[in-house]
Amino acid sequence: MDLNLLKEKAKKAIESAPSRKEIDVIFRTYLGRKGELTTILRSLGTRSGEERRRLGQEANELRTWFEERCEARKREIQRAETERGGKEEWIDVTAPGKRIAVGHLHPLTQVQRTAREIFQSMGFEVAEGPEIESEWYNFDALNIPPNHPARDMWDTFWLKGNQKIPKEDGKVERLLLRTHTSPVQIRYMEKHSPPLRIIAPGRIFRYEATDARHEINFYQLEGLMVGKTVSAGNFKAIIQEFFGRFFGTLVKIRLRPSYFPFTEPSFEVDMTCLLCSGKGCSGCGNAGWIEIMGAGMVHQNVFGAVGYVPGEWQGFAFGMGLDRLAMMKYKINDIRLLYNGDLRFLHQF
Ligand code: DAH
Repeated sequence: MDLNLLKEKAKKAIESAPSRKEIDVIFRTYLGRKGELTTILRSLGTRSGEERRRLGQEANELRTWFEERCEARKREIQRAETERGGKEEWIDVTAPGKRIAVGHLHPLTQVQRTAREIFQSMGFEVAEGPEIESEWYNFDALNIPPNHPARDMWDTFWLKGNQKIPKEDGKVERLLLRTHTSPVQIRYMEKHSPPLRIIAPGRIFRYEATDARHEINFYQLEGLMVGKTVSAGNFKAIIQEFFGRFFGTLVKIRLRPSYFPFTEPSFEVDMTCLLCSGKGCSGCGNAGWIEIMGAGMVHQNVFGAVGYVPGEWQGFAFGMGLDRLAMMKYKINDIRLLYNGDLRFLHQF
């Protein structure tokens, strides 16, 4: 190897070495047992007179230069370290910081907020009720008497403790995890007189087997509008408007006659399954339609339970599944994904 080239290479390496340790490593690559310069020095013995003298002189000069350069660079590094406080490690305050991972709202929260905004813009107030509910609010006041077979529509989680009804001596009432948001209708009407327009979003609980469309807890959004002339036609118009704004396109809906104890007449509202555009898939149980809410005209017995004069008011009520709305909006084919906390899933929304 050409000694001039070797010198150039060594010079660059020494100058760019960041630490004393690194200098030691460089030193060994040139002058260690198998170092490049060592090999040249060792080979001198095999060369002939004139060449040996010339090469010997140059190689030895290079060795001296190399040793001195290494020492000088080490002193330079040490001086810089002392100025920085004597430590080899130091903090580069100009380096860019580590980016903090920012989360975002759960898809169900996003859907609930959007639904709230749309209904609020149509004059609906937001009402709330407790997740632990009494039998009265969850069933009786909604025209579902004890032992009525209609109670089987809601598989209920009963709580172990009972609650004493204030002022009614000795009377106890069983507590449960609310099976729907409908009790909020009662709580609100007890305190307010018509005309009124409310929604009540919230979490509800069902004691049932889980599958792609059923969970033991999920979210509903209850709606209630009461006045002198509020009709089923008003209901349809408001719901159609809501879907149009929520999905950003015209969504087909259909009303089917149904039964709920707290409405008369009652209907069920289906929308085209957006997962399969109505063709039928596992998300809609191959129906092409997905049931999105129950609804109807408020039963006069319900008005009676909250102390309104029967026959004086009329209105509609509805309860829609927010999970199903989220599933349609984001094309999610299994409700359980919304509750298992898998970030790989959640990051997509
Ligand atoms: N509470 C019903 C359920 O959980 C849904 C429902 C049906 C709500 C009819 C209503 C209604 O307000 O009028 O299945």
